[in-house]
Amino acid sequence: MERNSKIYVAGHNGLVGSAICRRLKSDGYGNLITRAHSQLDLCNEKDVNDFFAETKPEYVFLAAAVVGGIHANDTRPVDFLRDNLLIQTNIIEAAYRNGVKKLAFLGSTCIYPRDCPQPIKEEYLLTGSLEETNQWYAIAKIAGIKLCQAYRKQYGFNAISLMPTNLYGPGDNFDLLSSHVLPALIRKFHEGKINNTKEVVVWGSGKPFREFLYIDDMAEACCFLMQHYNDESIVNIGTGKDVSIRELADLIKEIVGFQGNIVFDSSKPDGTTKKVIDVTKLNSLGWQSKTSLSAGIGTTYDWYLRNQ
Ligand SMILES: NC(=O)c1ccc[n+]([C@@H]2O[C@H](COP(=O)([O-])OP(=O)(O)OC[C@H]3O[C@@H](n4cnc5c(N)ncnc54)[C@H](OP(=O)(O)O)[C@@H]3O)[C@@H](O)[C@H]2O)c1
Repeated sequence: MERNSKIYVAGHNGLVGSAICRRLKSDGYGNLITRAHSQLDLCNEKDVNDFFAETKPEYVFLAAAVVGGIHANDTRPVDFLRDNLLIQTNIIEAAYRNGVKKLAFLGSTCIYPRDCPQPIKEEYLLTGSLEETNQWYAIAKIAGIKLCQAYRKQYGFNAISLMPTNLYGPGDNFDLLSSHVLPALIRKFHEGKINNTKEVVVWGSGKPFREFLYIDDMAEACCFLMQHYNDESIVNIGTGKDVSIRELADLIKEIVGFQGNIVFDSSKPDGTTKKVIDVTKLNSLGWQSKTSLSAGIGTTYDWYLRNQ
């Protein structure tokens, strides 16, 4: 990518897309192309083709997708499978047909088998059964990876597939029904503090271990790989470090300044016991995450206070 390259960021209003735009702008890339969902429905093949024929982007970050928590996946399986298949198929095909030089496809670590060894290596893909609650989304993302590999094999199209771990940061979704655990805990402890409640209830036993990557680190990694990685095999993006939900809750309680007690509701599902990815490949390519969990949560809470 040159500073004046035409770069299309699909999903630029989302958590990942907006962070990638921030990163590109701060790195001096001024020729960004973006379209809101209301301007361009990426499920519409003809509109996507017309858009690519009209704008002729050189590089594409595919960060548009139907994304959500367990409840959303469970109640809207068609949207999570069909829409994600349509979005990625339309964009990859139009990108190839319109001479895009390179495309970065964003997947997620839910592609990996539910019970695979930890930390999760890239080669564990398709070696076991998926977590049922988000299988629709996972299958769509696996199809996206295979599509990128197929276009590279048949046409030599330079598409790379990036698999980030759980992300958090400014621009996150704080809706308690559809958000991920970290932003949900920030909101719960904040509301507990301002309402002076005696306790905050955290779903599950607090025992599971999870990994969290700060969104601006993620965006930096995506731009780094767009510049330096050109291979068919997938790349994990993360910190390689995990924390228990209990440690996470304690940390957020401290940062928010909630004075009451934490109560764990073990009647709620824990999900898998441990989920951390192996980042040896990413680190060997020359990239390492920079933002500590406490610093990232601090910045995210400041953003929440300013924006919610
Ligand atoms: N968030 C995470 O923790 C996480 C972790 C790993 C990987 N990822 C990956 O990162 C990518 C982006 O996720 P995110 O967290 O940034 O999600 P997000 O905040 O929900 O952003 C997705 C964006 O895609 C847009 N979009 C959805 N359907 C569309 C359509 N038919 N036409 C046009 N635009 C459409 C959405 O616009 P509207 O909101 O207007 O519909 C939204 O702006 C996904 O591929 C996901 O797999 C995310």
